[in-house]
Amino acid sequence: MTQKQTIGIIGCAGFIGSHLVERLLAQPQYLIKGIDQSSEKIGHLLGHPNFQFECTDAYIYERRDEWLASCDVVILLAALCNPSLYNTIPLRVIESNFTKPMHLVDRCGVLGKRLIYFSTCEVYGKTVAGVCAEKGLICDNPEKEIFSEDASPLVYGSIDRQRWSYAAAKQLMERYIYANGFERNLEYTIIRPFNFIGPRMDFIDGVDGEGIPRVLACFMKNLLKNEPLLLVDNGTQRRAFTAIADACDAVMRVIERPVQSKQQIFNIGNPENEVSIADLAGMMIGLYNECNPEKHHSAGVQIVTNQRFYGSGYDDCDRRIPDITKARTLLGWEPKTTLVDSLRQTIEYYCDHYARQIQTPM
Ligand code: UGA
Repeated sequence: MTQKQTIGIIGCAGFIGSHLVERLLAQPQYLIKGIDQSSEKIGHLLGHPNFQFECTDAYIYERRDEWLASCDVVILLAALCNPSLYNTIPLRVIESNFTKPMHLVDRCGVLGKRLIYFSTCEVYGKTVAGVCAEKGLICDNPEKEIFSEDASPLVYGSIDRQRWSYAAAKQLMERYIYANGFERNLEYTIIRPFNFIGPRMDFIDGVDGEGIPRVLACFMKNLLKNEPLLLVDNGTQRRAFTAIADACDAVMRVIERPVQSKQQIFNIGNPENEVSIADLAGMMIGLYNECNPEKHHSAGVQIVTNQRFYGSGYDDCDRRIPDITKARTLLGWEPKTTLVDSLRQTIEYYCDHYARQIQTPM
């Protein structure tokens, strides 16, 4: 029998982690060692013979080095990553996305472990065209709006916009990993996810979590409760949404191709699925009503200011389109799922999962 490859996943029970563990366990050659502080989203995977789960905080875990030493590849997913936190608890956001994981990077270097780090598309910040527009200037080169890993500048708002606490922490973490590659030959791959969506994403406020989740879960709550979908600042912001299955396919390719992905940064996103938030709301209302003809959503949409929705210190990324040439070339990866299919699967999951917990007013 050939030796299994051991994949350690820190933050294995979040939205991305739960799907990735599921995907890895479908392949018998992997032994998965996961760490997280809750097992709610991976309950169905516990007990699998190739899955070892530690319910603990990875950053104070006393057997951390022993655990790291037993892994062939370490995947770092744990993070506070909801925008509503960035301007309200920026210190914890910086701690979670830089200060704490920084030591793990050091340990991976010392122990000679391969590290796959989940960063974010948010490191790009705003588009150059978006910043020009804010200043009343014209930027007529649309190419500048497509983010490429090794060429695009990273453009953030001013210091009083706490929103950028997350992007700045992630950027510093990327730079720390990059510098470790440069000076200490750390074997790493950085993934920049572009708005992954799918079942088990986030939470519904007041049901299985508290606060403001990301847009998909916000809109799902509004749909399930027949409330208006809230469009922050008119919903003109644009995002390219990526199906979680396509995203996991890319990560599997990174794991399987250590040579091609060594010391590389990859945008993982679907440029074909770009949509404005206002259009996303319209699509979700249409698909929800198709899936639930007996619980028709009739409350429509409502415009709110970012100040009212998120509070002070918020700012926004105007547009995010990934250049995925590198993932195509080095990983042979191509996202396949259309926005409609991905939204339909996600809406069906939410309707099914929360059916008994939320009574939809007719
Ligand atoms: C997110 C998070 O920063 C990260 O978790 C992550 O790295 C990245 O993007 C991602 O998901 O890959 P953002 O796209 O701004 O950032 O997060 P959302 O909360 O999903 O918001 C998307 C847009 O919808 C924003 O412009 C927001 O203002 C708007 N929005 C959100 C609404 O119009 N209505 C809502 O109810 C919620």
